[in-house]
Amino acid sequence: MQKKKLEKLYTTLNKLFESNLNFNELLTRICETLKKEVEHYDWVGFYFKNGNKKELKLKAFAGLPTDHEIIPFGKGICGQVAESHQNFIVDNVHAQDNYIACNINVKSEIVIPLFYNEENIGQIDIDSNTLNAFTKADEELLTYVNKKVSNYIKAKNTYPIFN
Ligand code: SME
Repeated sequence: MQKKKLEKLYTTLNKLFESNLNFNELLTRICETLKKEVEHYDWVGFYFKNGNKKELKLKAFAGLPTDHEIIPFGKGICGQVAESHQNFIVDNVHAQDNYIACNINVKSEIVIPLFYNEENIGQIDIDSNTLNAFTKADEELLTYVNKKVSNYIKAKNTYPIFN
């Protein structure tokens, strides 16, 4: 992405965090903004830990609806990140054994964990219909977004996300 366009995107995102949106609206607007402004983002969603269960639950998204609103820890790219606490870039989803397909057009995926008080409580998940779509720049952008979301959760006391 061009430097100017990326700067504009950061400004747009910062404005979302500063506006008085409730948590659901904020997450949805972030998903919509990222999907609209970044060409290689075709599905954007936030999953969070579902109470005390060892599973993730979809909280907000932009793109086609998915059948996978609940993902057990360990399953798929998302479930693996819930356990590894590490960023995960998949250049070609068809080369992955442990992968949950949401849409036949998806070719690559990135999942970045979201930390709250140093605990991995969820993640942002992005699908692309392009192979090898994601780089360090995406990791940086999405790590930034997750940090801001974590700060919002702290400031507005919206944790736990799901009871
Ligand atoms: N592909 C993910 C599942 C979530 S969908 O992409 C919306 C996975 O393997 O965990």
